[in-house]
Amino acid sequence: MKIAIGNDHAASQLKMTVCNFLKEKGIEYIDVGVAEGEKADYPNIAEQVCKFVVEKQADFGILICGTGVGMSMAANKVKGIRAACCSDYFSAKYTRLHNDANVLCFGQRVVGEGLAVELVDVFLNTPFEGGRHQRRIDIITEIENKQK
Ligand code: RB5
Repeated sequence: MKIAIGNDHAASQLKMTVCNFLKEKGIEYIDVGVAEGEKADYPNIAEQVCKFVVEKQADFGILICGTGVGMSMAANKVKGIRAACCSDYFSAKYTRLHNDANVLCFGQRVVGEGLAVELVDVFLNTPFEGGRHQRRIDIITEIENKQK
């Protein structure tokens, strides 16, 4: 499994915590930045991470900003991305089971380090259930395809 991960200036510390967790688990990742002390506009980071996912150079994306909300808004503008902003375990699990989310977003100003790692762990290790949920994903894709 390969992950693309990125953050803005509001989330460099939590990004490092998540990267250390991925390293410990032996999960390969591409870190698009930014490092502590650097500034970034979250939509630019979201676009870079999502590009790796839609081009299948990464299986999943992880985006961290102050709240996770801006990152998820920007990520969901990219065709083929289903980004979920989660700050609870249940949502992080069910967005994989039911929504086949391919990008997880959360905020350094919202979740602590322990929870962040749990969110990542359950997200990466929960398969999509398929079945009736696939039809709903197909509807999302149809809506996406109607956009000019
Ligand atoms: C940056 O201050 C902050 O606006 C950003 O990290 C994020 O929370 C936006 O959604």
